[in-house]
Amino acid sequence: MTPTKAPGATRYLPEERGLDSLRSAAECCRGCPLFADATQTVFGRGHPGAPIMLVGEQPGDQEDRAGEPFVGPAGRLLARALEDAGIDPALTYETNAVKHFKFTRKGGKRRIHQKPGRTEVVACRPWLIAEIEAVRPQVVVCLGATAAQSLLGADFRVSTQRGRELRLPASVVDIEPEPTVVATVHPSAVLRDRSDGREEAYRLFVDDLRGAGSNL
Ligand code: URA
Ligand code: SF4
Repeated sequence: MTPTKAPGATRYLPEERGLDSLRSAAECCRGCPLFADATQTVFGRGHPGAPIMLVGEQPGDQEDRAGEPFVGPAGRLLARALEDAGIDPALTYETNAVKHFKFTRKGGKRRIHQKPGRTEVVACRPWLIAEIEAVRPQVVVCLGATAAQSLLGADFRVSTQRGRELRLPASVVDIEPEPTVVATVHPSAVLRDRSDGREEAYRLFVDDLRGAGSNL
């Protein structure tokens, strides 16, 4: 958790809420301190009307440099899992709960990922909500606890509620019909699983994605 308060992204949202306007306005966001050390804002990728929105945690080292979500190792695992789940990547919009990379430096130059705190997640949520309202997906898939807690509240537990189909409350997004929302693990958690259970973790991840895709 970050102890400091952050003013939040709301004041940076443009009046016109199309994806292109949102993307360019987000480049200038200073709604929390994370903009200061990251290379750039990493906004979502995909088209308005994409039926599945995938929400990760925050850009990683490679995404921070490239300016695009899910281009690193977690993104490669996600792409393979989508394929195994029978989901055409062209149907997805991929984004993150937090749009700037949070890291610490270890030793020389290596940048080590740090989990965003609740303050940053809440500060950045207006971008995520605006993306959902602009894309109007049928299903939102939260990849890991950060995304799930951003949209479903800090008490949400992926371990007990993964795969369960919920409705995104009208208090969160102002669109009708409210999209279905499903949470699963983060692809990095599958990558990090060094145990014998890794295959099983991958299989369960694919099952959750397939279940989410069956809503289309
Ligand atoms: N992990 C995420 O949550 N998002 C990315 O874009 C890359 C890695
Ligand atoms: Fe703005 Fe989000 Fe970046 Fe913080 S992380 S500066 S709220 S875009």
